Amino acid sequence: MLIDKYNRVHNYLRISLADNCNLRCFYCMPEEEYDFTPSSQLMKADEIESLAKTFVQLGVNKIRLTGGEPLVRKDAADIIRRLGKLPVKLTITTNGTRLHEFVDVLEEAGVRSLNISLDTLQADTFKHITRRDQFQTVLNNINLLISRNFHVKVNVVVMKGLNDGEINDFIAWTKDTPVHVRFIEFMPFSGNKWTSNKVFTLQQILQVVEQQCSFLPLKNEEHDTAKGYIVPGHAGTFAVISTMSAPFCSTCNRMRLTADGKMKNCLFAENEMDLLTALRNGEDVTQLIQQNIASKAKELGGQFTADFEHINAETIHNRSMIGIGG
Ligand code: 5AD
Ligand code: SF4
Repeated sequence: MLIDKYNRVHNYLRISLADNCNLRCFYCMPEEEYDFTPSSQLMKADEIESLAKTFVQLGVNKIRLTGGEPLVRKDAADIIRRLGKLPVKLTITTNGTRLHEFVDVLEEAGVRSLNISLDTLQADTFKHITRRDQFQTVLNNINLLISRNFHVKVNVVVMKGLNDGEINDFIAWTKDTPVHVRFIEFMPFSGNKWTSNKVFTLQQILQVVEQQCSFLPLKNEEHDTAKGYIVPGHAGTFAVISTMSAPFCSTCNRMRLTADGKMKNCLFAENEMDLLTALRNGEDVTQLIQQNIASKAKELGGQFTADFEHINAETIHNRSMIGIGG
């Protein structure tokens, strides 16, 4: 088992399949010319499977595929099928634009639940945020997956002045739609124009919902990053991921593998462990994974604290979100 200095058991691996995307969300992708990693430096399907198996031997029982956008990879279906054979709960985080092409493969591979990013219910705001005109495709795909009985969570990054006015529209959407809306506090990453005054906090989000309707807290699981709520009578639920105002590092069980095969023990970790090169050189990957977990910081990659109003985003050393994997 992978246990760190703070007694946290790490059984959840998030694998980025691509540092590439068919959308251009500004909070994820830096605006300046972004260099995608050349494909020779990305993990190949065999290498992903091999590293995933090593993690499974070390106690991993849940794997999430992320990106960039995982489904832009040509061999995404092959990778999903292979990982579906491992004894893990397999899930995926996607921007939803290509789900109609993958719904059968996901079903075959035993994926039951997935996270889809959608920050707005307005087509023009969608275009402003993503710089692509794909709102209707994403919405249709959300409905398609719901109709195929997948558990659909929708990730909404809330940014003050941009989409905070839509919080109650999302809540209204949960009335008749069994969708699980997760409001995410805006987080700082390289090149994403983060400032603390753009963060809309857990407390502020709940205050906005309260003005419209009453709601009850849901029972959270131990490793949940989201605090869940339900409006009585609604088919869906909502939750808030309060990374900035109320981090949940003390129960963290997550590890990440970037598309170029570097292990990160935290979303905000500066240090990376190059597992892909080690694998290609025939070195002992298990030992490197254990070392990386042993060096995990207590909170937020050791780079800042929950006192987010005083963070200077320039001093955080990290990749852009698209290079890390959500
Ligand atoms: N802050 C908060 N959430 C983010 N995501 C991407 N960038 C950020 C950010 N800066 C979320 C997206 C996506 C998931 C992969 O991560 O909503 O759903
Ligand atoms: Fe693509 Fe998701 Fe990043 Fe948007 S947030 S650019 S959809 S990877």
